[in-house]
Amino acid sequence: MTDAKQDVETAELFAEQEIRIFNFDVRQSTWLHTFAEELAAIGGPQAPGARSKASLAVTELKCSFSKDQRELLAAYSDGLVCVLIFEGLQKITDASPPKELPGLTSLENRYDVLCLAARNQILLALVDNSAFAYDMDNEGKLVRLVANFKGGGLIKINAESGIKELSSHSGLALGPHTEAPYWCAVNAKDGHSPSPSSLILSALWNPGLEPTRVIPLPPILDKVGITNCLALTTGNFQFTRSDSFVSGKGEGGRNVSILEFDDNVGFAARFNSYRFSVNDDASTFVKTAYDALCQGVNEAIPAEYTLTQESAMAINNIRTLHCRDVIKDNRRVLVRLFGLSKFSSPIVISEDPLLLQG
Ligand SMILES: [Fe+2]
Repeated sequence: MTDAKQDVETAELFAEQEIRIFNFDVRQSTWLHTFAEELAAIGGPQAPGARSKASLAVTELKCSFSKDQRELLAAYSDGLVCVLIFEGLQKITDASPPKELPGLTSLENRYDVLCLAARNQILLALVDNSAFAYDMDNEGKLVRLVANFKGGGLIKINAESGIKELSSHSGLALGPHTEAPYWCAVNAKDGHSPSPSSLILSALWNPGLEPTRVIPLPPILDKVGITNCLALTTGNFQFTRSDSFVSGKGEGGRNVSILEFDDNVGFAARFNSYRFSVNDDASTFVKTAYDALCQGVNEAIPAEYTLTQESAMAINNIRTLHCRDVIKDNRRVLVRLFGLSKFSSPIVISEDPLLLQG
């Protein structure tokens, strides 16, 4: 969005200030692009050394930022912003999408995909988030491509099977959720690392201009009320296993909370409208609270944003839900990375690239 009218509309849409926009000027954007290309040249986020290269890029970029820009990055880094949209980014490629979605492996190795992934890694580093992967999710890889590889979109693909996966590799509509795993949100617990602190998305192709939808949690929790929120901090909830987990790894879980108090960021949430439920033996208070949360989520009107190569969206995964409608155009490809915040304490399997025990 570049013209003034769109800026005003965006400002009105995001009036609650839970969703903020960071604008790169042309010079900053050119620098960012150069750093992203350098990082892509060594293999992108998965390559050893990518992490330190990303933080070097950040050190250099930060010198060019205004006071307002720095404050906005700090606010997200401190966990106080729900969604940070980066605009004014350079287009990576002018090539239009092919007629059909290429296979996952060929896409993953494309230079433009590596550039987008590298840029996402640098953008995460700008808000003090480290790009990482879980051992039991996305085959242990840092870069996740979000596209209709397994069908589920409006138009059937050739390889489409009867059973549709509820994951980012199918185009099915997905109800509001935070990203798994759901054992804990900030500090590791019982051998499980916390949920991602952030996810960042950009688009290689989005020919149908199909939006990404986000729902900030603070206004919902205000409506849900104090007593209900307290009830949501109890370990009375369960969740089913995610379809993006490596076959044979990852699992559903019991006796988790949805909300927790956190000294650094106030509260942290985990929730998935199609995987969570309340334990049968929970008290009436807890069941009422769960209903109130579900109702609040159902009634919330998601904010919509259409990603392109010239934008990226960082979602604070412990205070924001995201969701989507059916993906109509099978050629839509988003490039996603998870980020770990400065407050998060995970179980580290390897440092470079950063791999966590899920
Ligand atoms: Fe998701």
